[in-house]
Amino acid sequence: MNFSDIRRDFGNENHSEPVWPEEPFSIFSEWVQKAIQSNIPEANAMVLSTVGDDSKPSSRVVLLKGLDASEGFSFYTDYQSKKGRQLEMNPYASLLFFWNSLERQIRIEGRVVKQTRELSIAYFNERPVESQISAMVSNQSQPIKSLDELEKQRQEILKFPESIKCPERWGGYTLLPEKIEFWQGGRHRMHHRMEYILIDGNWQRHRLSP
Ligand SMILES: Cc1cc2nc3c(=O)[nH]c(=O)nc-3n(C[C@H](O)[C@H](O)[C@H](O)COP(=O)(O)O)c2cc1C
Repeated sequence: MNFSDIRRDFGNENHSEPVWPEEPFSIFSEWVQKAIQSNIPEANAMVLSTVGDDSKPSSRVVLLKGLDASEGFSFYTDYQSKKGRQLEMNPYASLLFFWNSLERQIRIEGRVVKQTRELSIAYFNERPVESQISAMVSNQSQPIKSLDELEKQRQEILKFPESIKCPERWGGYTLLPEKIEFWQGGRHRMHHRMEYILIDGNWQRHRLSP
């Protein structure tokens, strides 16, 4: 297969050069809100990349569930999944958003910390019952013979809804950003790139060549 004919000239979105603020969170919020308002499906979906102690990177999509400028970017998962095991070995990870129709990409790098059990339980309790039960029966990323065995467990739990509770191995992580880069497509490959780096508690920014 050859994909060399697939190419596109960016810069058609009628965006002018963004007005870059001094810190990255306000423009992050502006861009993610624009993606949500533009009805992009799963506008809060992001690629999370982790690296274990074998130095081999691994990527998958997770959903951003919260952002707090002092805290960071949060998502929820199974702590014993592949990503969970890799984060245990090496807490440094990256997040990537790409909103194709907006011609925008955001890259975020930093250290990931586990949320408190209380916060994880509070979020678990907000989830729809079906999602809660799936988290209980699925040991994420473990080999299984078929989905039938999980379905049986699901049906059992449904009979006793009072047994629904947040499993110990399930909860939230927060990525504390150290670097955030914003990319906006420009004409003739002259894309706008602005990188923010956290140095001694202050955000510094510089433009990068496309
Ligand atoms: C749109 C989308 C959203 C997803 N959201 C999550 C999520 O928030 N948390 C999660 O653990 N997995 C989520 N997944 C599944 C992950 O991509 C992945 O299959 C799973 O977490 C296991 O990854 P791992 O084996 O690398 O740990 C999502 C997948 C897609 C396609």
